[in-house]
Amino acid sequence: MSIITDDNNLPKRVDINQKNPNVKAEKIDYDRNFENTIRPKSFDTYIGQSALKETLKITIAAAKKREKPLDHLLFYGPPGLGKTTLAGVIAEQMGVEIKITSAPALERPRDIIGILMSLKGGEILFIDEIHRLNKIAEEILYPAMEDFFLDMTTGKSQTVKTLRVPLPKFTLIGATTKAGELSGPLRDRFGIIHRLEFYTDEELAEVIKRTAGILEIEITDEGALAIARRSRGTPRIANRLIKRVSDYALVKFDGKINEDIADKALDTLKIDGYGLDSTDRSLLKMIIEKYDGGPVGIETLAAALGEDVRTLEDVCEPFLLQAGLLQRTPRGRKVTPAAYRHLGYKNAIEQQNLF
Ligand code: ADE
Repeated sequence: MSIITDDNNLPKRVDINQKNPNVKAEKIDYDRNFENTIRPKSFDTYIGQSALKETLKITIAAAKKREKPLDHLLFYGPPGLGKTTLAGVIAEQMGVEIKITSAPALERPRDIIGILMSLKGGEILFIDEIHRLNKIAEEILYPAMEDFFLDMTTGKSQTVKTLRVPLPKFTLIGATTKAGELSGPLRDRFGIIHRLEFYTDEELAEVIKRTAGILEIEITDEGALAIARRSRGTPRIANRLIKRVSDYALVKFDGKINEDIADKALDTLKIDGYGLDSTDRSLLKMIIEKYDGGPVGIETLAAALGEDVRTLEDVCEPFLLQAGLLQRTPRGRKVTPAAYRHLGYKNAIEQQNLF
């Protein structure tokens, strides 16, 4: 059983997957504790996503004035941009408890029913990876989201009865890396749908300095910016890299991080100037060397690289697309001239002219 209690008596965050033995946790993320200790808990300490923050502040103020729960919210965008963190901030601002789970853990009808019935008025239910919810769980959610009812059936064949069980008015916050895979009826039940954007280098440098402060790591502004530049616009990556760079600084120098030490540490970690790691580079190289620059299907690529399709699609691709190194076409993935240049190849046309 695990109840995560914020400092200063702030609202509790309950990780349903750990609390309810009937709900299977899909994976144990050992980084989760670290993430929880450095998560900002208010809009003031949450850096970036300024347009979304402004919208949310107004929505929250209006809900409080009306003394009603917040509309259901859907956050989408690449992983690591702070969807769970933002849900926690919203709960704190509303002064309510948040229950956190993820769609793959809601395998059986009783998983979702159990969670819905455990909610109290105004509470927030956060479902991560909501695009992976199965059809039955989705159908249980529709009346729960719309009218705050659970439709339950009892008895068998001729004696079957439908029972409408009232639920407290709650707010569902769904998070997904793939808004396109959500069914229309589920998407339509969210009052607010918002995309989280990649962070700028300056915003990431702020995140890094904040984390460094919490972890008591000394870092210069230039050092923070050097890590930010190679963090792929993603706070989760920035926060992971600062720990690795700090280890390097401690073992090789006196523990303090400046630009030079950050660059040296990141070179040692084989994180390149764009922030690409070896998986990203292998993906691009594979398309260039084996498939003439593409197009090539994602399944073919995953099999050739020995990687999971989902990892390539959810983790590697969003940033490669955003950075203009990869393109998605109806016939598969293609690298761009910028990818050839970045990896030190002559571009496709020059390459062909060699033969
Ligand atoms: N850590 C992770 N995401 C963050 C954010 N948006 N602001 C501050 N710290 C963070």
